[in-house]
Amino acid sequence: MDLEHTQVGIVGAGPAGLMLGHLLHLHGIDTVVIEDRSQDYVVDRVRAGVLEQGTVDLMRECGLGDRLAREGLRHDGIYIAFRGARHRIDMAALTGGRTITVYGQNEVVKDLIAARQATACATHWDVDDVAVSNPEAGGTAAGGPSISFTQAGRRRMLRCDFIAGCDGFHGVCRPSIPPSRRTFYERTYPFAWLGILAEAAPASEELVYSLHDRGFALFSMRSPTVTRLYLQCPPDDDIAAWSDDRIWSELKTRLRTADGWEPYEGAITQKSITPMRSFVADPMRDGRLFLAGDAAHIVPPTGAKGLNLAMADVWRLSQALAEFYRGGRTDALDAYSARGVRRTWLAQRFSWWMTSMLHRSESRNPFDHERQLAELDYLVSSQAAMTSLAENYVGTPLA
Ligand code: APR
Ligand code: PHB
Repeated sequence: MDLEHTQVGIVGAGPAGLMLGHLLHLHGIDTVVIEDRSQDYVVDRVRAGVLEQGTVDLMRECGLGDRLAREGLRHDGIYIAFRGARHRIDMAALTGGRTITVYGQNEVVKDLIAARQATACATHWDVDDVAVSNPEAGGTAAGGPSISFTQAGRRRMLRCDFIAGCDGFHGVCRPSIPPSRRTFYERTYPFAWLGILAEAAPASEELVYSLHDRGFALFSMRSPTVTRLYLQCPPDDDIAAWSDDRIWSELKTRLRTADGWEPYEGAITQKSITPMRSFVADPMRDGRLFLAGDAAHIVPPTGAKGLNLAMADVWRLSQALAEFYRGGRTDALDAYSARGVRRTWLAQRFSWWMTSMLHRSESRNPFDHERQLAELDYLVSSQAAMTSLAENYVGTPLA
């Protein structure tokens, strides 16, 4: 078996793993990233697109701010639409100037891969049969952490001081923690999101979240020529049942407002249905294995928190590892999980609130719908309520 050594072995080359590798490199800490998909697959995966203020600040502070500043779409506010009217929430005004920036996750990943390629840090793409060994966690046999994997038909082992589990919800790192040492919290929702990318100029400068009698819809964007749209659908819905015409008809019905506003149509270049769930793994650490990003938590996309929670995790972990290597201190490493789990639950609360307020219940109970409309009516008529949404949406400083 080929043997490799590094300080921090990172499983997963999504936003969490790549950002962690970048931040640790800036601290002079050596990493190896191990990814079971190809680089093209990782780059082309269509995912989130909203960066909180803290994520934008992090990108800039770690030298990845140039293209983001040129191509990112900075938004001061969002619209909430119901009863045929759009109501703008001026988040910048309500939060002392904090804003969001629309910049596809693909772009974040491209920037991180380019930064990593400019270093001597190794990334193993397209590997198979990844397994992690974390012997100290259970106080068992000696021997440090290691990650084994198959590459080009050869079994390889990476020995490391620490393992960062950045391998997403379906990875192998979280399941490597035995039930006796962890608790999982999970909630599934009785609906999913059908999402499309369309070659159509955005019909609004800012995002529009809409609750319609037929269900939720979201208007977003990726660039001056690409619109991103979502609509609520049953969790077991089949994308094959959604022709382009049916998608546009439903989106316009749910988003159109009395003043005539509606999204522009265009060629649909990507469509998919994504189930909705909330998930929290506690703790986010087991011995020398640290979980970050979707490996540790999943939030409903309504609050646009997934990517941003992942960035907060890896910023916190990079700071703690830098303290360890710089001076042998472990207090930040010991605090990593509690701080991460607390931030995760605050994001879960906000994402659940946004989701529950904006999606038609499965029962379509009229009482629930009127209550939701009253919640929205209160939201857009109360400075305090809009401030609460704004400070959660633009995000709190990384911690
Ligand atoms: N071995 C190696 N790599 C793996 C394994 C494995 N066993 N299992 C999964 N991976 C890889 C995936 O192919 C993916 O590239 O780990 C990476 C995990 O990336 P994401 O799922 O994007 O999760 P994360 O980096 O935490 O990003 C979180 O970005 O992807 C969005 O919805 C996500 O908004 C969330 C944020
Ligand atoms: C997106 O643009 O993909 C997006 C925006 C806001 C959300 C979720 C997704 O809440």
